[in-house]
Amino acid sequence: MKLWGGRFSQDTNELVEQYTASIAFDKRLAEVDIRGSIAHAKMLGTTGIIAEVDANLLVTGLNEIRHDVEADKIEWRVEDEDIHMNVERLLHERIGPVAGKLHTGRSRNDQVALDMHLFVKESIQELQAAVSRLQQVLLEQSERHLDVVIPGYTHLQRAQPILFSHHLLAYFWMLQRDFDRLEDVHRRTDMSPLGAGALAGTTFAVDRQYTAKLLGFAGLYENSLDAVSDRDYLIEFLNTASILMMHLSRMSEELILWVSEEFGFIELSDAYCTGSSMMPQKKNPDVPEVIRGKTGRVYGHLMALLTTLKGLPLAYNKDMQEDKEGVFDTLDTLLPALELVRGMMNSFTVQTHRLKKVFGQDFSNATDVADYLVQKQMPFREAHAVVGQLVMQAIEKGTNLAGLSLADYKACSPLFDKDVFAAIEVRRVVDARQSRGGTGTSAVIQQIEYAKDTLRSQRSKSIGI
Ligand code: ARG
Repeated sequence: MKLWGGRFSQDTNELVEQYTASIAFDKRLAEVDIRGSIAHAKMLGTTGIIAEVDANLLVTGLNEIRHDVEADKIEWRVEDEDIHMNVERLLHERIGPVAGKLHTGRSRNDQVALDMHLFVKESIQELQAAVSRLQQVLLEQSERHLDVVIPGYTHLQRAQPILFSHHLLAYFWMLQRDFDRLEDVHRRTDMSPLGAGALAGTTFAVDRQYTAKLLGFAGLYENSLDAVSDRDYLIEFLNTASILMMHLSRMSEELILWVSEEFGFIELSDAYCTGSSMMPQKKNPDVPEVIRGKTGRVYGHLMALLTTLKGLPLAYNKDMQEDKEGVFDTLDTLLPALELVRGMMNSFTVQTHRLKKVFGQDFSNATDVADYLVQKQMPFREAHAVVGQLVMQAIEKGTNLAGLSLADYKACSPLFDKDVFAAIEVRRVVDARQSRGGTGTSAVIQQIEYAKDTLRSQRSKSIGI
């Protein structure tokens, strides 16, 4: 007989049972569910809503179940529908009818909301720690590679040369915003819905502050309807995860480009690549490809939950059961992706010999020729046009800006002198960009210091790192 079977005279249809059950996935909430029940039982005892002895029996029984869950000794039953009723049934088997007192003043609606708040709070901390570890690796690699220059692109066309370190640090700061967003979601997840009952509160004098404190929540919901209906924090979680996944996907895309024959900037460690079943020469960047590929499913989970919630009247509706799998899958997709990107970023080798040859034929110092003229008081717009002509001449002659003669330069503007050649050497071009946040070596060294400060302050204020 079902826990709620009192008013029913027929058995549940078997397909109904399977289709509406959530135990297949919410068993993952067993630990937090039991933790929440223990806090609730203790509260029932200390407030005198039930006798202390009964509360102690509940707590002891729940603790035993918790051990069995950890030891993987539990058989979950689909007839018991979800994790909440499975645990209650197990408790009943263990301690008898007193188990029936656990659900006093509580509903599965505030219970499931509580479980998800606890689960997501902890998931956020795991993600933050993983983000931080990846940032650390990017920072170390950028310190290590200050001597490497790569082409910077816009429209995937060579634009201006930049430090490889500068490029890696761009991702460091994106990840820092992800870290901050996670912190922000954490703030709104850190609220206890327990004590809201099914929707309207309860006739028992529950102590919501007490359970919130026992479970480590910073605050509680002030409205019982809101407490059982709110899934905003899950949408925010999925949104934040989507942005983070998008960043990992962009990084992956660049790794894929960089290891190609055409770019040849870096080589990934063998440990992160796979081969081809037919072509013996292949070393494929499957890992970044899979990460890029899996980004879609994370976005999908965000869209799915937004859609699930958009038409729901207050308060709880069973549709909300759909909030879980997407969140679980997002975590299971994102956490390993962070670890894998960290592994790849930590173990690549830079193809220094190839990068040295990269600048032989390009025009990525053209802005610097214009800036040279501007230094000599020519308006930038005019200088732009002069250099445009020089570029055209160089292309016609099959060379680049360094390959033109001083006479060619002077023919375009009398302001040119032979020092123009030093001004357009690749390293000079990079290091001339000393503006704050720019790619010049000293600006990047300064940036590395800011990044280190940022990591230090993450550690001092944040949870779980
Ligand atoms: N399995 C349900 C869920 O995940 C638990 C809450 C069910 N509440 C109810 N009144 N049927 O949402």
